[in-house]
Amino acid sequence: MPAGPAAVAAAADVWRAGGLVAFPTETVYGLGADATSNAAVARIYAAKGRPAFNPLIAHVANLAAARREGVFNADAEVLAARFWPGPLTLVLPVAAGGRVCDLARAGLDTLALRVPAHPFARELLDAFDRPIAAPSANVSGHVSPTTADHVLADLAGRVELVIDGGPSRVGVESTIVACLPEGTRLLRPGGVASADLAATLHRPLATLEVHGEGLIAPGMLASHYAPRAAVRLNARDVAAGEAILDFAGALSAFRGVARIDLSPAGDVIEAAANLFGALRALDAGGAAGIAVAPIPGEGLGEAINDRLRRAAADRG
Ligand code: TXA
Ligand code: MG
Repeated sequence: MPAGPAAVAAAADVWRAGGLVAFPTETVYGLGADATSNAAVARIYAAKGRPAFNPLIAHVANLAAARREGVFNADAEVLAARFWPGPLTLVLPVAAGGRVCDLARAGLDTLALRVPAHPFARELLDAFDRPIAAPSANVSGHVSPTTADHVLADLAGRVELVIDGGPSRVGVESTIVACLPEGTRLLRPGGVASADLAATLHRPLATLEVHGEGLIAPGMLASHYAPRAAVRLNARDVAAGEAILDFAGALSAFRGVARIDLSPAGDVIEAAANLFGALRALDAGGAAGIAVAPIPGEGLGEAINDRLRRAAADRG
């Protein structure tokens, strides 16, 4: 149903009954449930076919609501003041009296919190007045959805309500930063460029290198963003049977099964907004492979390249 007052009321009803609502955010569409209920959160894992209980992001309407759930240190205060509402998730120690359930935290004593900027997402969160656990609204291992149609393609029949708020403006997931007693670290590049985090903190931000299962952000597993077609990065040419994911016309001299240019003008912000929709569209065309043009690593290019590396990772 379209975003609007009727959708706010319908979503609150579904959430109160322990059900699932897919809703727009500025990064990607989320698959939301009442974050205070283990039973409701369990339905998220079931609907996505998520193989393990990875911790989820709890979405709240504002900083005051976030303070009830997480403990903010000085860095967390600075980052929240600068980037919330927006595509930044903070991993913080759980506050005394915090309501986010064990399953949403995967049993950790930390939790991930985000105040989304999408105006309709904020209306929803205001109206429900409890944190909403929400991973991206796709089947586990598929490309994240940036339109309501993407959500329906993956989850029709497994979710009570899908709210259409138009295409996601940012198009890649939030940046995740842990602000914990052991230090402040970038866990996942995303919609806020790490250079902007560093400028705000007045120092470079340490990155957590993650490998294998025993990692702090388990959702960062290698083949998380996988289309069916084999993805070939930094392509300088195009092989028979490949579709082309171009950037700034770099591969315009070649013929492919299909072609999408993420940003003919070479703008990484535009490219981020188009990324997941383009991967889906090229994959749906049935190409054996996708040749991806080189994409600069600056700004949102960092998150784009991160997601493309995962899409290209050997899935064994
Ligand atoms: O933009 C976004 O962040 C989207 C929209 C819907 O808000 N959500 C999203 O959620 O991308 P998801 O579940 O796909 O990714 C959540 C990430 C995972 O990598 C997970 O491991 C990490 O957050 N995470 C959650 N809680 C954590 C914690 N306590 N410590 C470390 N990582 C955590
Ligand atoms: Mg996801």
